[in-house]
Amino acid sequence: MRFEGKRAVVTGGASGIGRATALRLAEEGAFVLIGDVDQAGGRALAESSNRIGFRRCDVTEESDIAELLAECDGGGGLDVLFNNAGAGGAPDRIDEIAAADWDRTQSLLLRSVALGIRHAAPLMAKRGGGAIVNTSSISAMQSGYAPIAYSTAKAAVLHLTQVAAAELARHRVRVNAVVPGFIATNIFARHLDVPEAQRAQANALIAQVAGKVQPVQRTGQPEDIAAAVAYLASDDASFVTGTHLVVDGGLTIGTRASWDAEAPSLFAALEAFR
Ligand code: NAI
Repeated sequence: MRFEGKRAVVTGGASGIGRATALRLAEEGAFVLIGDVDQAGGRALAESSNRIGFRRCDVTEESDIAELLAECDGGGGLDVLFNNAGAGGAPDRIDEIAAADWDRTQSLLLRSVALGIRHAAPLMAKRGGGAIVNTSSISAMQSGYAPIAYSTAKAAVLHLTQVAAAELARHRVRVNAVVPGFIATNIFARHLDVPEAQRAQANALIAQVAGKVQPVQRTGQPEDIAAAVAYLASDDASFVTGTHLVVDGGLTIGTRASWDAEAPSLFAALEAFR
């Protein structure tokens, strides 16, 4: 019960990582206000628990973010913010992307996080401190995991986390990021516009593949990220700020050949000449 008496806001809380985190924080005693554009999903989750509330919030709108945070604050304070809402963004390569699509993706994935911090920090400061966690991605660290506009925004989230942590330390506000690997959520099927009727089938296939791409041979689940976010947001991490926690089952620790004996490997080829 690390969050007994605490109040949290989770953006993108209607689905996937945000949903699992809202449930985890509530399970550990928090009141959680989720903000999302998915009103049906948000309301359904709020109806499932008297520790969870919902307010419609489009994180590309500054006023929506400010009002979501103010509602939580008005109900008794704001201790935790999880800046998590997101989607795949523009799919285009750098030699074809339109400026407007680039801007939309940065607005959803980067500006939203900056504005979340911007509006949460004063509310937390007046309460004597707080904890902010931002969702980045392994695509921030290496190419090949997501389109360029998304990957660039997620990399900037890491630096934003670091600099904001430095600026807000004097208010006892900690700022950290979580870096998920492949996590079985709706994000992939949504990004590919898979029709609703085929979503379950697509998600099952994605989960199956995602279970085999990293050293930890199982599918990453939203609850894996929720556990990391709960740690970073809790007093267990009271000496942790301006950093990030990679939760990817080892996906980014090395080449496939370093953990998979079946993968093509230069060293294995050289063995023939020993
Ligand atoms: P998801 O699609 O299950 O959940 C995303 C939620 O954000 C949805 O409820 C959606 O309605 C909401 N959302 C989208 N645009 C919004 C907006 N403008 N305003 C408010 N809410 C909005 O996807 P998932 O996987 O849970 O994604 C959560 C975060 O995790 C995202 O930032 C994503 O980029 C990040 N992430 C996900 C990974 C994965 O493998 N699933 C890997 C790395 C990062």
